[in-house]
Amino acid sequence: MPESQVLAGLTVIITAGPTREAIDPVRFISNRSSGKMGFAVARAAADAGATVVLVAGPVSLRTPDNIERIEVQSANDMQGAVHERIGSAHVLIAAAAVADYRPVERATRKIKKSGDTMNLHLVKTPDVLAGVAALENGPFCVGFAAETNDLEANALKKLKKKNLDMIAANLVGDEKGFDSDENALTVYWHGGQEILPAATKQRLAEQLVELIGRRYWSSRSGGESGES
Ligand code: PMT
Repeated sequence: MPESQVLAGLTVIITAGPTREAIDPVRFISNRSSGKMGFAVARAAADAGATVVLVAGPVSLRTPDNIERIEVQSANDMQGAVHERIGSAHVLIAAAAVADYRPVERATRKIKKSGDTMNLHLVKTPDVLAGVAALENGPFCVGFAAETNDLEANALKKLKKKNLDMIAANLVGDEKGFDSDENALTVYWHGGQEILPAATKQRLAEQLVELIGRRYWSSRSGGESGES
């Protein structure tokens, strides 16, 4: 159970799951995100009193109670859905594993097998989180960092580069992070950090939400502190 109603009165947008970047009508580029982490965060945020909008890529999870779910496929769709709602949001939590690149073009017909090799020409997708963090008077922005190595250095680089308020870093690969029911997070903000040891994604989500709530209210009251 959540420890408090720390997000009461706040609207929180959460991104979750993978995106799919179409190659042709039957093929796409994607990744192993199941949506479990983002859905757990959505459930925890609603339990902590927030009005939650969950922008979810293609996953087969049930929508948690009292949550509005917007389903998207691609990074462009996710960006559109988030920006449509961002004006009313106090907090954005980006747990989605958004594809970093997409095919330059989507073939209108199934691509036929021809030569022994085939080149796919890719172009960067929009960075949904960084785009919101760059907004003037935008919401409190919390990212996730999925790393196979150098967790702290890479997470801190993303915190700074994307101009975030907080980032929750997790190790991925070798059955870690993606798809499993358990995870472990280290949460960083400017001047502080907290380790959330291995636990179920739901328990971690509750701890993360509590931490986000405390940091949010502290930032809004001008009481930013660097305690860890
Ligand atoms: O879904 P599960 O199977 O439960 O797995 C959970 C998870 C491992 C996917 C999750 O815990 C996690 O780490 N999510 C972020 C994955 C990711 O894409 O991380 P990143 O380090 O590549 O991106 C950094 C941040 O920028 C993320 O908050 C991401 O949502 C955001 N981003 C990235 C690229 C992009 N084009 N737009 C974005 O918004």
